[in-house]
Formats: sequence, C-alpha cells, structure tokens
Amino acid sequence: MLDLRDEEAPLRAMERMADIYGPIYRLRLQGKETLVVSSASMMKEIMDEKRFMKTAIPGLSREGEPSGVIIAGTLDPDWEQGHRMLRPAFGPIKIEDMFDGMKDVAHQMIMKWARFGPDEEIAITEDSSNLTLDTIALCTMDFRFNSFYRNGAHPYVAAMNTVLGHVTQNLTSKPIITKTMSYFGGDAPITAQTAHEAQSVMNKTAQEIIETRRSSTERKNDFLDMLLFGKDPKSGEVMRDELIKAQMSTFLVAGHETTSGLLSFAVIKLLQNPETYRKAQDEVDRVLGGGAITLEHTRELKYIYAVLQETLRLIPTAPIISKIPHPHRKDQVTTLGGKYKIDQGTRVRLLLGKCMSDPKVFGEDAREFKPDRMMESDPGYQQIEKYWRPFSEGSRACLGRPFSLQEAVIALSLILQNFDLRLADPMYNMRIKQAVTVKPLGLSVKAMLRHGMT
Ligand code: HEM
Repeated sequence: MLDLRDEEAPLRAMERMADIYGPIYRLRLQGKETLVVSSASMMKEIMDEKRFMKTAIPGLSREGEPSGVIIAGTLDPDWEQGHRMLRPAFGPIKIEDMFDGMKDVAHQMIMKWARFGPDEEIAITEDSSNLTLDTIALCTMDFRFNSFYRNGAHPYVAAMNTVLGHVTQNLTSKPIITKTMSYFGGDAPITAQTAHEAQSVMNKTAQEIIETRRSSTERKNDFLDMLLFGKDPKSGEVMRDELIKAQMSTFLVAGHETTSGLLSFAVIKLLQNPETYRKAQDEVDRVLGGGAITLEHTRELKYIYAVLQETLRLIPTAPIISKIPHPHRKDQVTTLGGKYKIDQGTRVRLLLGKCMSDPKVFGEDAREFKPDRMMESDPGYQQIEKYWRPFSEGSRACLGRPFSLQEAVIALSLILQNFDLRLADPMYNMRIKQAVTVKPLGLSVKAMLRHGMT
C-alpha cells in the first residue's frame, strides 16, 4: 500500500500521487470524491470560464456569514458586488501610487537586518510575513501594524494567526487521504471557542479602523475609501459593514501570506543557484547603483521580475485552486483531455506547481530554476507565458497580482542591494509548511552588509 506519511504536507502527498497515478486521478478528500489534475493542457481547459466555475472555497466560508471576494462563490451576489467595487482599487496606476508605502516598510526590514549584524540568524519567513502584512495594511487601509518596532504581534495579527491556525487545522488534521494518510502533524489544537474569540478581536479592530476613517474629513481614494464611500457601479448600492469587514480580513490575509511565501522561496532559490544570485545582484547594482530605489527602477529590473515569476512557476504560493463544471451548462458530463468524463458537481483540484512544470510545455528542464526562461527576450517566452498561471485566469484571477509583484521586486532588490546573504544552515534541505498557502519551513539566513545603508 502507498504510504505517504513521510510527506511534509498534504500538497506534497498529492503531488507524489500525481507522479504515480498520472495527470488526473480520483481522491476521497474529507469524505468527498475529488479529481486532482496536474497537466498544463487540462489546467487551461479548467480555467475556461465557459466550462468550469469557482464555488465558495470549501473549509473557508462560514454558514450565515458574508464571504470576502476570494472565498465567495461566483454566483454569490456578494462576490459580484465586491469584484465590481474593488477591481479599480488594484489597477496598475493605483499600485504605482503605493510605491512609497511599499518602500517605507521594506526599509524597516532592511534597517532591522543591518542592525542585526552578519552573525544573527534571520527567520526570513517571519520577517517576510511582517513585511507583507504591514505593507498591505499601510497601502490599502493607511493603517500601521508596526511589526518591525514591537515585541510580539499586534493584537489583530495575533488574532488573525489564531483564526488562520484554526482553519488550517480543520483543513489538514482530518485524514485527508482516506486510509493511506492520517497525520500531517501541527501545533497544539485551537478550539472553536478560541477561534471565535479571535475573530471577535479582528472584527473589533476592523470596526475601529472603519469608524476612524468615517469620522475623518480627508479622503484617501484607497481600497478602504472605495469600500466605505464607493457605490456598486451596477446597482448603485453601498456595501454593508459586515461585508466590508469580511473584505478587509480577506485582503489582509490574502494580501500577505502569498507574497511573503514568494519572497522567502525566491531567496532560497537564489541561494541554491549561485549563478542566478550573482545575475540578480548584478542587475540591481547596475540599475540602482548605490542610490535609493525609485518607481522607474522597478520597471528596469527585468531579471528580478523573472526570478519572482520563475519562483512562482515552481512553487506557486497559492498552490491549489478548485472548480466545478459550470452548473449552467446543458450537458451533464464534460470531457477533459479529450477522454476523461467529468460529471456535473464533481470538484476538480488543480495542482498548479505540477501543471506549471509539465515537461510537455516547459521542456525537459521544467523542474529546474531558470529565470531566463521568464525573460520576454527568451525565444520560448510567448509559449510559456500562455501556461504560466500562478495567479489563475479570468474573472476569478488574482486582483493583487500587480500589487504583489511590485512589492516583491522592491523588497528583493533592497535585500540584494544591501546584503550578501547566506544560509544559516548550509545543509538546509527545503521542506514546506502548508496552511492555506505554502512557505518554506525553518528557513534562516545570515545577512552581511555590503556597504553603508541606502
Ligand atoms: C485570488 C494567487 C497576492 C488578492 C487569487 C487566486 C490565486 C492567487 C491563485 C485565485 C484563487 C482561486 O481561484 O481560488 C496569488 C499569489 C499572490 C497573490 C500567488 C502573491 C504571490 C495577492 C495580493 C492580494 C491578492 C497581494 C491583495 C492585494 C486576491 C483577490 C483574489 C485573489 C482579491 C480573488 C479575486 C476574485 O475572485 O475576485 N490569488 N495572490 N492576492 N487574490 Fe491573490
């Protein structure tokens, strides 16, 4: 019998089964049958919105409570309203306006590392989380958690970690793969009561942020203003407070977990591939020189973008997305890959990392970290780009794509400009920690200042 208990995370177990059973297999997951898909061509079929649709994310939506845009199903009127009202807040021009806020928080992290000196072990995954959470809160709600200036977490952050821990526990502690796999390990269990109390702390903080903003005469024209003072362009309605709070939590969670994982994975990939590290640092030195980073610089840092894109191809930090055949279709059965019949209502899960390292599209070296393939000048880029989907595709694609890439480019460039990094443990063997998203487990680095701070 297949024994998957050694796999560090459910994701890895599912990927291993794909190696054994092929690009599509059936799995009983928490008592329900699901199909698990890992080929690039079937991924494209499933992302076709005429054929497949996203429903409420299982395990994350709560009965009787409104869901933020990520979690809500496509037919939920709250998703439509949220999507219409929020989309404009995340367009490219708005994101450029957030440059100063992103740089401000990235500097806080760099200053902290500089003070540490070359021998201190830096838990990069934690600092990346502080960076991305502070950045999303500052840039979208003008709220400072000041994570780099406090001992222990802000009460909102502590509460959010408890709620997230509870969700993760519910998603992963049950036998995920019936009979073959029963244990994924984890921290001390979080009770439903503790999670409920933590949720109340989050709601209270969100309410305070809302009231402060409503009582201010100054308009900021940011995400929070759009939610509080904007109107749905279709119906002319304003958004109810309960839904605004759900959107705020959704953005704080989705807007930091994924990007912090990206940054940590990019660092480990660069360290494991010294030639790419040198190339990335050379580009930063050439573009930024010894000066402060500007918005114009971010447009020139093409190799840094390629490093981040290649990292997301191999380790997409939102690693699994799920859909069902579109319920409005007339046919009761849809066919995938020209031969696999899928009944209406069947949930299909895409292992994005596997799909995006399918050798049929990405070549025999698909598993290797080669940022050059993500450069627009690379001859294979046009073909690869069609299948590069770490942010999904269509109306349910990530709203935060330009935000996260701009933020990560700034942070990674500042790191490379100011420090020479090395692994705290030269024998570090990368394993992942899976919650709703994935991060490297136990990764620490040491950071040696290259010259005076910039
Ligand atoms: C949706 C990935 C960063 C906001 C998604 C989805 C993916 C994704 C795969 C689709 C999920 C699904 O179909 O279930 C990522 C990755 C990120 C990232 C890999 C960083 C590396 C962000 C950030 C924000 C954000 C920074 C906010 C500023 C959203 C929203 C949606 C979404 C609002 C839902 C869109 C909708 O359904 O209307 N993201 N995301 N994401 N993401 Fe991201």
